[in-house]
Amino acid sequence: MFVKIDQTTMTIHTKQITLPAGYIVINNKPFDINIMKKKFFNTNIYRNNSATEFIVENGKITEMGTNLPECDEEIDLKGKLIMPPYVDPHLHLDYVYTGRNDGGMVNSGTLFEGIERWHYIKKSQNKKDVKERALAGIREEVSHGIQFIRTHIDVTDPELTGLKAILELREELKDKVTIQIVSFPQEGMYAYKNGFEMVEEGLKMGADCVGAIPHFEWAREIGEKSIHKTVELAVKYNKMIDVHIDETDDVMARFIELLNALVMTEGIGEKTAASHACSFGSADNAYANRMIGLFKKSKINFITPPTENAYLQGRMDNYPKRRGLNRVKELLEEGINVCFAQDSINDPWYPLGNGNMMNILDNGIHLTHMASYQEIEKSFDLITFNGAKTMMIEDYGLTIGRSANFIVLNESDVFEAIRKRVEVLASVRNGEYLFKRKEPIYDLPLNL
Ligand code: FE2
Repeated sequence: MFVKIDQTTMTIHTKQITLPAGYIVINNKPFDINIMKKKFFNTNIYRNNSATEFIVENGKITEMGTNLPECDEEIDLKGKLIMPPYVDPHLHLDYVYTGRNDGGMVNSGTLFEGIERWHYIKKSQNKKDVKERALAGIREEVSHGIQFIRTHIDVTDPELTGLKAILELREELKDKVTIQIVSFPQEGMYAYKNGFEMVEEGLKMGADCVGAIPHFEWAREIGEKSIHKTVELAVKYNKMIDVHIDETDDVMARFIELLNALVMTEGIGEKTAASHACSFGSADNAYANRMIGLFKKSKINFITPPTENAYLQGRMDNYPKRRGLNRVKELLEEGINVCFAQDSINDPWYPLGNGNMMNILDNGIHLTHMASYQEIEKSFDLITFNGAKTMMIEDYGLTIGRSANFIVLNESDVFEAIRKRVEVLASVRNGEYLFKRKEPIYDLPLNL
C-alpha cells in the first residue's frame, strides 16, 4: 500500500531531490502515478472463478487472469474475497443523527410519527449543521465498504437547506464516493404547500431523481396525481425516478400499480425505483401474481430496507404481526431487480443504523426467507450489483476497462463471509486505498 502525495523527495547519492507533483516513491524509486502499473494478486473475486489477479493502470483495470506480467507495484491480497463496493441505494443523509434531538425520539415507532417529528426538527437546521452530520454519516458508510449512495433529500423546506448542503457534498466527495440525490417531498407533493414546485426546483438545482410519497398525500386521488406529476417531471428533465411508495401495511395502498403502468408507457421502467412497497407484502396472491407479470414487463427496480421496514411496519398488528417487507424473494425469483438499503442512520424514523451493509444483508435474508445455501451464495448481489443496476451505474464491477473500485473482505469464501458477517478490511477507489485496516487479533488468545 502507498499513500498518494502531491510532492515528495528522494535521495540519490546523498543528494535530496524534490519530485514534481504526481510522483511517488516506492523503494527509493520515483513513479509517475498516472502511468505506473500495479498488480493486485492472490485474491478470490466474487462472481469470477477464473481470475486471481488483475492489473490497474491510471485507475482502470487493464488485465485480469492468472500469472500476469510483473508490475511496478505488486499488492498481495492474501487470498481474501474481493467484490465491487457495497451500494446503499436509499439513505436520508439530511436526517442522520437527529433521532436523539429534542423532540426527535418517537413513541409509536410509526412512519407517520417520524414525519411529524421531522417537521419540527428541520426548522432548526442550517447548511453547516447538515453538512457536518451528513459527512459523518457518509464516513460511517464508506468505512463499511460503501462507495455508491443514493440519498433522498427533503425539499419541503422553503430554504432548501438540506439540498444545498448535499449538492455541495456530492461535488466535494465525488472522487471518493458517488452520491445520487433524490428531490424528495417528505411532507407531500401536495400535502405540503408548494411541494410540487419544490420538487421541480430541486431537479433544476441538480438532483438526479424525482421523488414522491403518494401514501402520505391526503386522499388517494391526490396520491395518484403525485405519481402522474413524478413521471411527467422525469420525462421533462430526463431524470430517474425513486418513489417512497406504499410504505404502509394498508393493502389498499396500491400506488405501485399506477407508477408501474405510467413508467412502462413511457419506456422508463429501468430508470425507475420503487422504494419500500411494503403493502405489496400484504397484498393477496391473485393481485400480486398479476402485478409481478407487469413488473417484469416494465423492468422497474425495487429497493427494500429490511431493518427499517421491519421496525416501522406491523405497528398496528397484534398477533400475528407482519414483517412489513415487500415480496423480495418472489420478485427475485421472477427475475425482477431488487436491492437492499440502510434507509436511516439514527433519525426520527429509526434509532439505529450505521451503514454496515453486512448487517442489512444478514437481516434481509432472514426476514425474506432467502437463506437456502443457493440463495446465500448469491445474496451479495443484493448489496452490490442489484443496487448498482437500480442506480444505473455503468462503471461498476471488476471487469477490464472499468474503474478499479472494490472492497476486500476478511474471508476468502462467499458463504463463510456471510455466515461470519465479516468486516470489510479495505476499500479501493480508482486503484488507490480509501482505507485499509488490519485483521482483528487477540491481545490474549482464547485458550479452548
Ligand atoms: Fe426513506
